[in-house]
Amino acid sequence: MTASEFFVQGFEGGNRWFAGTMLLEIMGLESRIKTRGAIVHPARGVSLGVGEGECLGIAGESGCGKTVLLLSIMRLMPPGGLISSGEILFEGRDLVSIRESEMRTIRGRRIAMVFQEPMTALNPVLTIGNQLIESIRRGGKHTRESARGRAIDLLQDTGIHSAAQRMQQYPHELSGGMRQRVMLAMALASGASLILADEPTSALDVTVQARIVTLLHALRSKYNLSLIFVSHDLALLSQLCDRIAIMYLGRIVEIGSADEIVTGPQHPYTEALLECAGRSCEDGEGVGFKEIPGELPDGSAYIPGCQFHPRCPLAVEQCRLEKPELKSVTPTHFKACFRTEVGALE
Ligand SMILES: Nc1ncnc2c1ncn2[C@@H]1O[C@H](COP(=O)(O)OP(=O)(O)OP(=O)(O)O)[C@@H](O)[C@H]1O
Ligand code: SF4
Ligand SMILES: [Mg+2]
Repeated sequence: MTASEFFVQGFEGGNRWFAGTMLLEIMGLESRIKTRGAIVHPARGVSLGVGEGECLGIAGESGCGKTVLLLSIMRLMPPGGLISSGEILFEGRDLVSIRESEMRTIRGRRIAMVFQEPMTALNPVLTIGNQLIESIRRGGKHTRESARGRAIDLLQDTGIHSAAQRMQQYPHELSGGMRQRVMLAMALASGASLILADEPTSALDVTVQARIVTLLHALRSKYNLSLIFVSHDLALLSQLCDRIAIMYLGRIVEIGSADEIVTGPQHPYTEALLECAGRSCEDGEGVGFKEIPGELPDGSAYIPGCQFHPRCPLAVEQCRLEKPELKSVTPTHFKACFRTEVGALE
């Protein structure tokens, strides 16, 4: 079997193209949320893998299912939500089916989540130091004194100066960038090997954002962290991530190395995202996907064939009737689209 055949066949078994050891493998994930008026389907058959030490970026328009996907990995579905099928394999266990007591040994410990607004995750009435010490001591290996030393080391690792003094401060006394660093220190304190970052830098100004991205690079190699990083900013994802997955209405429509996605997109939706991101930058409106023609359908919508067909300028009859599966373009690059033209939108 050639390397290429291995990767392609492996992918069909759940995205195993990564040459190293896989840390997380999501296979055929489907979820739903019952709301008052409808049933929303945030994941419609998602298969993804993250290798040890790998950073996977996820991009897609608002409402395409990025946050709910991360919450599914933590098994923290919104009220009325459930995972209806699929597997989430992490360190040999299926997070979909293990008991809640077992899940509690993984959630926040082996897998940590970092949000856009860290205040939602930090306790406002406890000092940074106490929160970190508590998190470190949960691992069971530290006395209060040694946990304090470890907390100071972690704050220094995340680029916080005068760490001993910062330990005495409360979250509201810190800037947004500083709070995000504390969140990363908290994730490291818990001993997590996988960090799920949901737009962690989008509320920060560009300079602070760049510093956090540099920090994440450094922490990844120092702690051999795996990372899933959700962002609307494809340029930022291409700096930080090894691979990027593009999500549309609960499905992965394209996935490849960061370079393949940003410089050689093969799916019309990815092309449109890149084009719109560039256009809104030039217009000084910041990075966003606001200008793709048409709107992302409601999460409860059922669309036969390719879900992108009502908005796709390349749609043909087949697109309205059949669902395209992810197929390989190169050993590391996959797209779910029938058309083979490259750059056909230009
Ligand atoms: N708590 C909830 N109750 C009902 N539906 C929800 C809830 N949270 C998300 N959804 C629905 O699930 C789908 C996916 O939403 P999700 O928040 O994951 O999108 P997203 O890609 O993270 O968007 P954004 O970029 O705006 O953060 C959407 O249709 C959304 O309306
Ligand atoms: S399958 Fe058809 S509708 Fe879907 S993205 Fe490709 S060309 Fe467009
Ligand atoms: Mg979100």
